[in-house]
Amino acid sequence: MQIFRTIEGMRAASRAARVAGKPIGFVPTMGALHEGHLSLVRAAKTHSDVVAASIFVNPTQFGPNEDFSKYPRTFERDCELLTKEGVALLFAPAVEEMYPVDAMTYVTVEGLSERLCGKSRPGHFRGVTTVVSKLFAIVEPDIAFFGQKDAAQVAIIRRMVRDLNIPVEIAACPIVRETDGLAMSSRNTYLDPQQRKTALVLHRSLEEVKRRFESGENNAYKLIEYGKQIFAEEPSVRLDYFEVVHTENLEPLEQTAGQALVAVAAYLGNTRLIDNCVLYA
Ligand code: PAF
Repeated sequence: MQIFRTIEGMRAASRAARVAGKPIGFVPTMGALHEGHLSLVRAAKTHSDVVAASIFVNPTQFGPNEDFSKYPRTFERDCELLTKEGVALLFAPAVEEMYPVDAMTYVTVEGLSERLCGKSRPGHFRGVTTVVSKLFAIVEPDIAFFGQKDAAQVAIIRRMVRDLNIPVEIAACPIVRETDGLAMSSRNTYLDPQQRKTALVLHRSLEEVKRRFESGENNAYKLIEYGKQIFAEEPSVRLDYFEVVHTENLEPLEQTAGQALVAVAAYLGNTRLIDNCVLYA
């Protein structure tokens, strides 16, 4: 695996692959890799000739009181994993390489960026869309792979790519879970053993909503209530949101029809976890 610290180096390598007629599959990450990320790499491998990945803990998507400085950084281990999975090109720039001190340009998908996590993390999605559009401009991938765990992120990136005519296909890959159901996340490493057990409430609440939906409940407010009741069993967990929304525009739904995204975010101590499922009518 070749590792590039500069935009120029990364761009030259991906251009060379494209000139050689090799489609590039791209997996952007913030490192601290787990099986969820590796599933994206495997998907990229099956859909492209050259797999490129990035590791960049992007400061612009963290709020001032969020975990940017303590976000897990496990670069050596990440490199071993990516090498084993057959990643050819890794872009791992420093913050100064990505953001000139006088940078003034942001990319914002208006409206969508204020929904779900965007409500409690102002500026978060602006940071994501800005860095992802920069990464697309540097790597110029044919297909880019994102985890469905960040369902709002996927919807927002799809909208950005469509609105700005960025020539990349966006592929979303299924959530990867621990054997007990907890969605894999780099932030799971923050949980103490008790919180790790309690964290299952997110998955449990979604399973309850799915069960009610499959037994015929289509009213989104009722489904949300059923989900929230599961949270009431875990008073130490602070629910951030529990919503049923349209999968593309993230608008709250009254009735589930077509596809509905059930999305949840909750705090265990200072750790904020998210999870979701899609209901197919
Ligand atoms: O999903 C993530 O890890 C990040 O939001 C991303 C897409 C790599 C942008 O920093």
